[in-house]
Amino acid sequence: MAEKKRLSREEARKRIEELRELINYHNYRYYVLDSPEITDEEYDELFRELVELEQMFPEFITPDSPTQRVGAPPRKEFGEVRHTIPMLSLQDARNEDELREFDQRVKRLLGLPQDADIEYMAEPKFDGLSCEIVYENGRYTLASTRGDGVVGEDVTPNVRTIRSVPMRLLKPKDLPIPKRIEVRGEVLMRKDDFEKLNQELARKGEKTFANPRNAAAGSLRQLDPNITAQRKLDFVAWGVGVVEGVTFKKQSEILDALEKYGFKASRPRKVCKNIDEVIEYYRAMEAQRESFVYELDGIVVKVNDLSLHEKLGQTSRSPRWAIAGKFAPRRKTTRIIDVVYSVGRTGTITPVAILEPVEIGGVIVSRATLHNFDFVRLMDVRIGDTVIVQRAGDVIPEIVTVIKEKRTGKEKPIQPPEKCPVCGADVVKEGAYYRCVNISCPARLVQSIIHFASRRAMDIEGLGEKTARLLVDRGLVKDLADIFYLKKEDLLKLPGFADKSAQNLIDAIERAKKDVPLWRFLYAIGIPNVGEYTARVLAERFGTFEKLKNATYTELLEIEGIGPEIARSIVEFFKEPRNIQVIEKMFKAGLTLKEVTGAEVKESPFAGKTVVFTGALKSMTRDRAKELVEMLGGRVSNSVSRKTDLVVVGENPGSKYRRAQQLGIEMINEEEFLKLLREAGIKV
Ligand code: IVH
Repeated sequence: MAEKKRLSREEARKRIEELRELINYHNYRYYVLDSPEITDEEYDELFRELVELEQMFPEFITPDSPTQRVGAPPRKEFGEVRHTIPMLSLQDARNEDELREFDQRVKRLLGLPQDADIEYMAEPKFDGLSCEIVYENGRYTLASTRGDGVVGEDVTPNVRTIRSVPMRLLKPKDLPIPKRIEVRGEVLMRKDDFEKLNQELARKGEKTFANPRNAAAGSLRQLDPNITAQRKLDFVAWGVGVVEGVTFKKQSEILDALEKYGFKASRPRKVCKNIDEVIEYYRAMEAQRESFVYELDGIVVKVNDLSLHEKLGQTSRSPRWAIAGKFAPRRKTTRIIDVVYSVGRTGTITPVAILEPVEIGGVIVSRATLHNFDFVRLMDVRIGDTVIVQRAGDVIPEIVTVIKEKRTGKEKPIQPPEKCPVCGADVVKEGAYYRCVNISCPARLVQSIIHFASRRAMDIEGLGEKTARLLVDRGLVKDLADIFYLKKEDLLKLPGFADKSAQNLIDAIERAKKDVPLWRFLYAIGIPNVGEYTARVLAERFGTFEKLKNATYTELLEIEGIGPEIARSIVEFFKEPRNIQVIEKMFKAGLTLKEVTGAEVKESPFAGKTVVFTGALKSMTRDRAKELVEMLGGRVSNSVSRKTDLVVVGENPGSKYRRAQQLGIEMINEEEFLKLLREAGIKV
């Protein structure tokens, strides 16, 4: 630092310039390409040097300096910005037929035969907030929201805080820097950042956002840009307004150029030779919609040749050269008719809303989870409320918004139960949750059986919810060990069982009790807070059931990944004589465990590795694949960098595939991935 003090004014100016270039470049590597070249510490070092020099020579501070991304003072109101070219909206196509109608309309308007092929650009439709950013001679000068399409709000200081928005355009080798370019795109919040933000807001007792789009809008449209700076926002460019100094012939050229200038532009995108290829893209995107880091609500199809845009023109609201191909909605409005309480395997009582049935994505939804009573209180949900329900992928339907405007005054508040709704025992409050204190509560037993028998636990085929309920109701199973003592005659007394099905279940139980890997057993017996991953860590560390059973709190705490809460749960579980009795009873019935030594388990193919998924997997959801890799000691990342060890390539892989190729990272297909999982003892 002492050395820098001796810099002359001119030397300081040069160094400041150099540092800005460097920092901008590394910002781009980090926030746009997701592929940093330097460590965080090295980056901080450059940043600190720039801050110090700017403090010494404040006359050199410019609004596009990386140091100015945060800290602008709050304003009283947003200024207005008139868009040079109005920001139109898009017409919707709700299905494949309507996409084909669009193609026919385009050809009709252009006077082309119906069997001609039109080249289209197909892109994801990002569900965010549209925004226009102006660059003059490569420098960030103005940012505005879409507003009513003609006049938007001035959000220049706010957008400046979004790290994936360049403050200076990169200088591509094959393209000049335009005198002026109006870049249009979507301000977004990633789904995982949205979840984190909502958790934090809920913890602070503040109002949460209904979806990532509202969160992005609420975070961007803040009079105090410091708040925007604290929220993780992203920007993806999908087009341009006025461009002076560069001409483009195709939409695909625009998106390629925007990437060269340093933006994230719509991806995965595809130049489609004709409408058939568009439909193929539409199907593939809908099938994979859950696996994207951003919320997508469809695709956007644009005629690729820009000269045709002029010929096609626009209506008052939308261009005739583009259309939005919407995905089937995953959200519907309905009403809560009642609330019931569901008692889980550890006694946790979950409020469940009973809904007026609605069809969402081909499935009739009549129940939705209300999570816990903190959620009920924060959302102020009441019986009789009109609500928006969401069903995404294989997760339980949930209520995302209460439409309070629809209240009539007759809605009834939802109260936590005073007694267990199943066995009548007392209920205790633990944080946001209420729990039945009776460890023999039949509801808990039913849930414990379902969990014990599930595929990822003991894998007893044919022992699902219905049978579990019957076994408990008829008194045939009073604890988990009783499952191993069931006889064919017992089952034959149950409705729905015939000779063959009864025999099948008995056989499945027999099979399940032999040579069970220790970690599977630990997961199956339902120790509170012990999921698959922890079960594996425990098996790895202790090797045998006997050793784990006698582990002390301090011994457990020493293990990486085991905190006080888990350690306490384990000790308490094995301190309870009834739990030990049940487990001993299982051993008496012939249960055998495959106990392991640490070395054997550590051979997990994913241990310590960073894994990235690209493309759709056929055999499981992305979430499940991630869970399995993590359970086997690996880490899953969303982007490919030099630190990535392995890339799992599914169907229709995206840009990550190309990056992995460029970087020479090991890639495997889904079959090979499944093989590795099987070798690690996972049933897939
Ligand atoms: S192009 C003339 N491309 O969807 C309008 N829009 O419903 C050209 N959007 O206001 C829009 N992703 O905010 C385009 N890849 C994409 C998009 C996209 C999301 C939004 C945009 C627009 C709205 C239209």
